Amino acid sequence: MLLGFLLLIFLIAFPALVVAVVAFTRIPGDDCALNVTTPVTQTAHAIHWDYSPEHGPEHWASLTPDYATCGSGKLQSPINLRTSVGPKYELGRTLKNISMNNFQDVSTLVKNSFSNLVTVVHNGHTVQTSGVKGYFQYDSTWFELLQFHFHTPSEHQLDDNLQQAEIHFVHKSQSNNYLVIGVFVETADENPEYFKELLADFPKSEEEAAAIVHFNYTQLLQDVVGDNANYWMYSGSFTTPNCQEGVTWIVMNKKVKMTAKDIGALRNAMGKNNRPIQPLNERTVHMKSLPI
Ligand SMILES: *[C@@H]1O[C@H](CO)[C@@H](O)[C@H](O)[C@H]1NC(C)=O
Ligand SMILES: *[C@@H]1O[C@H](CO)[C@@H](O)[C@H](O)[C@H]1NC(C)=O
Ligand SMILES: *[C@@H]1O[C@H](CO)[C@@H](O)[C@H](O)[C@H]1NC(C)=O
Repeated sequence: MLLGFLLLIFLIAFPALVVAVVAFTRIPGDDCALNVTTPVTQTAHAIHWDYSPEHGPEHWASLTPDYATCGSGKLQSPINLRTSVGPKYELGRTLKNISMNNFQDVSTLVKNSFSNLVTVVHNGHTVQTSGVKGYFQYDSTWFELLQFHFHTPSEHQLDDNLQQAEIHFVHKSQSNNYLVIGVFVETADENPEYFKELLADFPKSEEEAAAIVHFNYTQLLQDVVGDNANYWMYSGSFTTPNCQEGVTWIVMNKKVKMTAKDIGALRNAMGKNNRPIQPLNERTVHMKSLPI
C-alpha cells in the first residue's frame, strides 16, 4: 500500500520534474529569441569597409546595396586634375572669385579661451577634426563646415601624380547640398602654427581617445585662399562609401605645409587611405585661371 502510494507520487512527480528541468534548461538556451535582434543591430551598424584587398575600393559596391553607387556612379571622386587646358579640362570663365571674404570663421568672434578648440578623432578610416565654427559662401549659397579629415597619399592627382597628402573640408548647405574643399599638402621644414597642436596630439589609432586642441582656421585660410584663390571645380562624389554624388568639389591650387615626419605620422596612423582616381566620363573640370 505504501509502495503503491510512493509509486503514484513518483508517476505524478517525474513528468513534472522532467517538464521543470526542460523548462529550466530552455531559458538560458533560448538563443533563438535573443538572436532575432542580432541581424537588426548588425544592419544598423555601418558595413565594414576599408582600403585592404578584401574590403577595399574594388569591393565597396558589392558590400551592400547601400554602396552600389561606388560601382555604378558616373560622377565619382577623386579624379586626375590638370594644370593645362585640354579635352574636358577648361578655363571656367564663369567661376566665381574666392577670397577670404567668402569665409567666416565664427570662432574668432567668440572671445574666450575655448574659442578655437576643436575635437580630433581617429574613426578607423581617417583622422577627423570637428568643431571648427566655419562657413563658406559660394555663388550666394552658404555652406557650413562639418569636419575636415586627412588622406595619405592624396586622393586627387595633379597631372597624373599623387601628392603627399590631402585634406578634405566637408561642407553642407541648408538645403543639404554638399561641397568639399580639397587642399593638397606639401612638405616643409616646419609645421605652420595652426597645425602644431593637432599634429602633436592627434589619436594614432581608433582605440585612442579624442584629442582637444587649439586650431586657428582663419590662419589656414590665409595660407590657401588669400586675396584671390586659384582652384579647380567639378561635380563629383564622396570618396568613401556610400560614394554619394551631387558633391561640388573645389580643389585649391595653393597647398598647405607639413613636415615630412608628421605626414609620415598621419600615414602610419591611418594607413594608405586614398581611393583610386575615377573616370571623368561626361564631366568637364573647370580651372579658375591659368597658370594654376
Ligand atoms: C545566438 O547568438 C549567440 C551569440 O552570438 C551565439 O553564441 C549562439 O550560437 C546563437 N544561437 C543561435 C541559435 O543562433
Ligand atoms: C576677380 O578677381 C580678378 C583678379 O583679381 C579681378 O580682376 C576681377 O575683377 C574679380 N572679379 C570680381 C567679380 O570680383
Ligand atoms: C586666429 O588668427 C587670426 C589671424 O591671425 C586672429 O586674428 C584671430 O584672433 C585668431 N583667432 C583666435 C581665436 O585666436
